[in-house]
Amino acid sequence: MAGERSIRIAAVGDLHYDSGRGALADIFATANKEADILVLCGDLTTHGRPEQMIGFTKELASLDIPVVAVFGNHDHEADAIEELTEILTKKGVHVLDGESVVVDGVGFAGVKGFAGGFGRGTLAPFGEPLIKNFVQHAIDESLKLENALRTLDAETKVVVMHYSPIPETLQGEPDVIMPFLGTSRLLPPIETHGADVVFHGHAHAGHPEATTPTGVPVYNVALPVLRRSGDILRIFRARAPERRGRRTTDRGRVDDDVTLESTPSRDRSKPRRRRAEPPRDHPEHRHNP
Ligand SMILES: [Fe+2]
Ligand SMILES: [Fe+2]
Repeated sequence: MAGERSIRIAAVGDLHYDSGRGALADIFATANKEADILVLCGDLTTHGRPEQMIGFTKELASLDIPVVAVFGNHDHEADAIEELTEILTKKGVHVLDGESVVVDGVGFAGVKGFAGGFGRGTLAPFGEPLIKNFVQHAIDESLKLENALRTLDAETKVVVMHYSPIPETLQGEPDVIMPFLGTSRLLPPIETHGADVVFHGHAHAGHPEATTPTGVPVYNVALPVLRRSGDILRIFRARAPERRGRRTTDRGRVDDDVTLESTPSRDRSKPRRRRAEPPRDHPEHRHNP
């Protein structure tokens, strides 16, 4: 429509890169073609080893668009997260761990998130110090997200995380592992600080989309979830009216009245499968997301 600016955001998580040149070529080529910004929702590597992240950035070199990323639990496995952050940021990736960034007029707030369960089943900080520390990490992640969202100066606020803030996008996973896939402790910042959309990964056998209790759309963009529908990315289209210069940030003007639409981006090399199937081509066991 005349007078509107359109920004396409591609989202995917759980790429679980190990090694192999060209392993992610189809995903990044599609992102180049169909999106203006790429969002990565954690588990970029299988074990978080620096050599894996270096290989991952070589794959990323084919990208021509900005990248916003958070880490997942797999990226923490080798306890080298500072080194991984440096490797990515040197390549220009916006790595978010409680921070926010405005890219092309769209605001992004990102955290890894954590586990702990949902609703009345949420793990309480009671008993052994280990349990209290576990719960405190979830609380800390929630506080980081709150600060990132609260200070984000943009009309459209996109939340990027690895773990889920709601149980609905986990449906399809075994009930016994649900508390390890996210926690509703991550939900209040989303509900109270104006998030427009949430992307997460981690739940490889989960459900692709749902909403928070107040209606914020939440998308599980774990690659195995997308592949079940024959997709490799989810594309979100942010429509914005022409820049009026109402406010500015150090990365450019912020637009007014941005709205979001979403469509999956199909892996055109494969036939579309309509019925949900467990992921078959993923390097990781589904119970260890
Ligand atoms: Fe994960
Ligand atoms: Fe994963």
